[in-house]
Amino acid sequence: MDSTHAPPSVACRIGWQSPAPVPEGYRFNAFLEASRGRLQAHGLELAAFFEGGRSPAAGLPDDAMPSPLEIAFLPNIRAQVAAMSRCFRHAIEELGYPAPFHFAFASKANTAEEIVRSTLTGGAHHEMSSDVDVEIARRMIRAGLLPEDRMVLANGFKGPGSAYARNLLALRREHPRVMPILEDASELGSFADRGVEFDFGIRFRRPREADGAGDRDSRFGIDAAGVKHLAAEIDRTPGSRFVLLHAMFGSAGYDEDDFVAALEPGLDLFARLGRNHPHLRYFDFGGGVPGRTTLDDGFDYDRFARLLLEKTLAVCARRGTRPPALIGEFGRYTVSEHAAHLFGVIAVKANEAGPPWYLIDGSIMTSFPDTWALGEHFICLPLNHLDRPFRRVRLGGITCDRDDVYPPRGSVVPLFLPQVAAAELDETPLYVGFFSVGAYQEMLGGVRGSKHCVLPEATELLIDDGEDGGFVCDVVPGHTTEDVLHNLGYGRTARVGAPRTAAPVALV
Ligand SMILES: Cc1ncc(COP(=O)(O)O)c(C=O)c1O
Repeated sequence: MDSTHAPPSVACRIGWQSPAPVPEGYRFNAFLEASRGRLQAHGLELAAFFEGGRSPAAGLPDDAMPSPLEIAFLPNIRAQVAAMSRCFRHAIEELGYPAPFHFAFASKANTAEEIVRSTLTGGAHHEMSSDVDVEIARRMIRAGLLPEDRMVLANGFKGPGSAYARNLLALRREHPRVMPILEDASELGSFADRGVEFDFGIRFRRPREADGAGDRDSRFGIDAAGVKHLAAEIDRTPGSRFVLLHAMFGSAGYDEDDFVAALEPGLDLFARLGRNHPHLRYFDFGGGVPGRTTLDDGFDYDRFARLLLEKTLAVCARRGTRPPALIGEFGRYTVSEHAAHLFGVIAVKANEAGPPWYLIDGSIMTSFPDTWALGEHFICLPLNHLDRPFRRVRLGGITCDRDDVYPPRGSVVPLFLPQVAAAELDETPLYVGFFSVGAYQEMLGGVRGSKHCVLPEATELLIDDGEDGGFVCDVVPGHTTEDVLHNLGYGRTARVGAPRTAAPVALV
């Protein structure tokens, strides 16, 4: 994961930014819209989930759901795969680019079963980084979701003797397109001469440049001389072929021009290696393509695809090499938008130092760890009362941690929510939603794990397309007190060995 984000002092748009009510029909972005004072996300009226008696759409629950509530809108994941593939298809046609583009999902961004399943049914190749990932891929293969034509790109450390390397070797016997991407020359020994053929990638570490750019202190990848050496060793080894150069230098903090410029040293190395390595045909530009986590327009994906193909054509023409098939490993881009986390406002409290506090029935910092760890921002909007006057507020989580606030400490970004009085919340509750929180936040916060201040995991609704334009939905119940206690070791019964009895400490 790359931690290049907008610092909290940089302005961005996270919601409604005025004391005026939101006009009827106002569109915040491609999937969020105001309708009769309520927020619609992906066409669903979210507040209705809490009210009961009226399902937001065919196939969704009409019983009132508990707050807080997590929503995973799985069709959005497949739509993201299709949209990026379309950007590249258009650029390929426009420029007459002579090789294909392949979309891979960087599964570390969200490794939950329903997410990986959705990327695969959307047609994505699969990227992984650790031992347990291998078992996930195996289960997807056995479920028929990861067919033989899909690449399984294995990043991450896989030194000789590691469980990850051993398991990848076994997976290769079950799937023809398992492709280890070597981070270090020593990793080749884990796979070569083991009775199965392998196509390999090598991860390149960009040299430090005069302007300070580059990855000299990165622990990932190999310098150009090392890549050349390892590539030759792979091609000398029977049953092994060097087919892919991995060069992840783009970053979620870059615009399209900077992103493509950062890839140039990798493209140049690809073009030079291409002359000596007949099987080399993929250039993998890794991750770093941002998702839209705020309401700003941000990164232009169409322009990015065109610039990248233009640059690749230019570099390959200069070096006299055939242009590569391009692979992108999209993590945050694929899964940011599908997830929302909804909360009830349970109290309004004066704040001597600024806008009043609206306290919610869950935690901001445990639900979205990047808000306090990196000062990152996500879209935050009310689900109801959009037709009321708004006021500037701060959100506070229910933990007793001073950092459990939004916008994050140090942020200059304003948050406006509808005006409500503490006394009316029982009668007319206010609900708020955080949107585009589907990448990394759940994994960093610990999916279905124990949370800060022993807050239970929220109930989750997994929504997918159903028959006849309706939806199907799985409800994953939130944690009970008993679940939390069990997770933390209370009430365990099976103990091996004699118990140690500690005498009570005497207090004087
Ligand atoms: C090798 C590799 N590929 C892809 C990704 C995904 O990056 P992103 O979520 O920015 O797309 C990462 C993230 O750390 C990575 O290390």
